[in-house]
Amino acid sequence: MRILITGGAGCLGSNLIDHWLPEGHEIFVIDNFATGKREVVPDVLGLTVKEGTVADEGLVNNCFEEFKPEVVVHSAASYKNPDDWDEDGRTNVIGSAHVAKAAKANGVGRLINFQTALCYGRPQQLPIPPTHPTAPFTSYGITKTAGEQFMLLSGVPTLTLRIANVTGPRLAIGPIPTFYKRLKAGQNCFCSDTSRDFLDMSDFLAFMDMAIQADAPIGTFNVSTGEAHSIKEIFDLVSEYLGKGKIEVPIVPPAVDDVPVVSLDATETERVFGWKPKVIFSETIRRQLKWYDEYGITDVFSHLKSLAGK
Ligand SMILES: NC(=O)c1ccc[n+]([C@@H]2O[C@H](COP(=O)([O-])OP(=O)(O)OC[C@H]3O[C@@H](n4cnc5c(N)ncnc54)[C@H](O)[C@@H]3O)[C@@H](O)[C@H]2O)c1
Repeated sequence: MRILITGGAGCLGSNLIDHWLPEGHEIFVIDNFATGKREVVPDVLGLTVKEGTVADEGLVNNCFEEFKPEVVVHSAASYKNPDDWDEDGRTNVIGSAHVAKAAKANGVGRLINFQTALCYGRPQQLPIPPTHPTAPFTSYGITKTAGEQFMLLSGVPTLTLRIANVTGPRLAIGPIPTFYKRLKAGQNCFCSDTSRDFLDMSDFLAFMDMAIQADAPIGTFNVSTGEAHSIKEIFDLVSEYLGKGKIEVPIVPPAVDDVPVVSLDATETERVFGWKPKVIFSETIRRQLKWYDEYGITDVFSHLKSLAGK
């Protein structure tokens, strides 16, 4: 299958490439390396990489015309500076519109869009069903929500996925790498009083194998476990893993731009796709820590203003 992945040098994109290339799929990546890394998309057979931004309509059109993808996975996203509304708008809104239009013009069979749970804003119910109203309140959430609407407007069969926090190779954002890095360096930590839904990469990849099939359902789905686990639970698992035992840490209230609890209801996804996450939470975290032992951690980015740069 010919699969075009925008943002293919990022965490999810590069894991999909590692997973799909050996299966014989042909892959084309468009990435500006804003947060992705050139070295994770090496010059190998079956993989073509175009450096550039999805905000450049000419570049996007040329890539689609050259590669003629059957499936598009739209994974490119801007989030690293919460005050850079212009770049978030260029990438997440204008860029998404370019990708949606090029997909339509080039007869793409399926468009798969990756969406953040921040599209739901501060949830009115937990776990959050995919029918929950969108109410984003950050630059990332607002622009990603507009971009998603362009995907759905395109007329191309579109599957848009509201994804939990996927953990796996190259994850360099959030509490797991932060605690691992700081505890190893003997630095103090604090935990925000928040909880998130964590999904193991292997479960995400199993879902994506189904999602690219020509006869797979389209629409809006959560890809998640439906369970909320606290940041303190993660801290305790990291501390135990590093052999540091039980450590008392300050628990601080959620930041103003943070959402206290996120868990995404995947009941409908499980029913329609016949997919269910297999890896339990503690094992997901331990697998991640084992990966850091082997490969280390690179930059830690956060799209939450209050944590940016920490
Ligand atoms: N990782 C998760 O757990 C998670 C959860 C929910 C949603 N998502 C969504 O999945 C997608 C991928 O997330 P990720 O965690 O892999 O992030 P990432 O930052 O690792 O990947 C994003 C990629 O997009 C590239 N990019 C940024 N701006 C671009 C532009 N203008 N043109 C081309 N490429 C550009 C970056 O360089 C990077 O390689 C994003 O759309 C994100 O909103 C991810």
